[in-house]
Amino acid sequence: MSELLPTVTVITRVIRETPGITTLVFDREMVFNPGQFVMVWVPGRDEVPMALSTGTSITVQEVGDATRELCALSEGAKIGIRGPFGNGFSPRGRTLAVAGGVGAAPLLSCALKGKVETFLLGARTASELLFCDRLEECTELATATDDGSAGHHGRVGDLMAGRDLHGYQSILVCGPERMMEAVFHTLRQEGISARGQFSLHRYMKCGVGVCGSCCMDPGGLRVCKDGPVFPGDRLNGGEFGKYARDASGRKKNV
Ligand SMILES: Cc1cc2nc3c(=O)[nH]c(=O)nc-3n(C[C@H](O)[C@H](O)[C@H](O)COP(=O)(O)OP(=O)(O)OC[C@H]3O[C@@H](n4cnc5c(N)ncnc54)[C@H](O)[C@@H]3O)c2cc1C
Ligand code: FES
Repeated sequence: MSELLPTVTVITRVIRETPGITTLVFDREMVFNPGQFVMVWVPGRDEVPMALSTGTSITVQEVGDATRELCALSEGAKIGIRGPFGNGFSPRGRTLAVAGGVGAAPLLSCALKGKVETFLLGARTASELLFCDRLEECTELATATDDGSAGHHGRVGDLMAGRDLHGYQSILVCGPERMMEAVFHTLRQEGISARGQFSLHRYMKCGVGVCGSCCMDPGGLRVCKDGPVFPGDRLNGGEFGKYARDASGRKKNV
């Protein structure tokens, strides 16, 4: 498959996971590492990055025009897909996963492959907890909701308190950057930030390391090519947790 030209792909199944999140299953299986992403072309609208939730699916949260159109597609609709791109997660030994919202999407296949022992899952409210049933079957699952409607009343990072974090060799993290920053802070306090693997979101245009839209300060790491998954010790002292750039390159707080 060309890195630059999307392949026309047919949606074979649409799964309404939560009120705001939809899984689109497509007609071919991709060989990928969990955490890798594809560039999804929504004809007539935009091309946006999406993690693969399985080898045959993406799981989309409706936040704007492109994601609204994706979530409204029906079986038989066509989209364009380039990829998979990026590095993905590398779970080693006992593994903890921490996910917020649709951040559970790239971690699902790690869990389904039996690579995750403990899964901490957070969302705003009970109905937005993603993949609960599937994760319960293959991990020790603990949940948190901002409004207390299920699990712990509070942030998903709170669920790390009292756990023997040193007992995990890999800690895989994906979700809103403020949530990831809180997890990073906890790991740093414990002196084990290098065990963390953080899947970063930055504005992406090319997806293949050419356009520079996803470069991060201070070293110019390209999230699409060098990431999107970075070990915690590579995130020290940079823009992570502070700011990101929008489509026009302007800094905005995360
Ligand atoms: C590596 C990676 C993996 C992702 N995986 C998922 C996933 O599995 N499921 C999911 O629902 N979302 C995922 N996203 C986020 C998804 O790309 C955005 O939600 C989507 O681009 C929003 O487009 P929109 O037109 O609906 O919204 P807009 O209104 O255009 O934007 C809403 C938000 O999305 C961001 N965004 C818009 N276009 C892009 C772009 N080209 N690159 C990066 N961010 C953009 C904007 O900065 C803004 O913060 C991922 C992002 C990255 C970088
Ligand atoms: S999106 Fe173009 S360099 Fe990363």
